[in-house]
Amino acid sequence: MTPERLVELAKEAMTHAYAPYSGFKVGAALLCADGTVYQGCNIENAAYGPTNCAERTAFFKAVYDGHRDFQAIAVCGGKDGVISGAFPPCGVCRQVMREFCEDDFMLYLVDEKGYTAATLAEILPFSFSAKKHMQD
Ligand code: THU
Repeated sequence: MTPERLVELAKEAMTHAYAPYSGFKVGAALLCADGTVYQGCNIENAAYGPTNCAERTAFFKAVYDGHRDFQAIAVCGGKDGVISGAFPPCGVCRQVMREFCEDDFMLYLVDEKGYTAATLAEILPFSFSAKKHMQD
């Protein structure tokens, strides 16, 4: 599975978005360690709070099906499904990634020209062990 193919699958997922309130359609394609890909879209709600991001839709579908090892995710989004700039994951989605993924989990953040690659460690850099001070 190439990053380019994962990006294509994220773009396809974006067409499934339910985004009548913001108008921002977002798609994600999540690559599992065994090569399976789960696609997700954002699913909005009139009460805003229950809105589910594309990334979490993909993760929750995969975890329900028994997957817990993940390699990469491609994410794309834009107003009315037109990509104009990258869509970095929100804090809640980063926390969900932290639950299941290692520091080297790859993100491909799609823009109109291609994608930016980043690791989970780069977008959620806190390391507990690096901050720890031992006292006797
Ligand atoms: N959204 C995502 O699906 N993923 C992100 O990474 C950021 C935001 C959705 C939530 C909402 O439906 C819309 O984009 C506008 O914030």
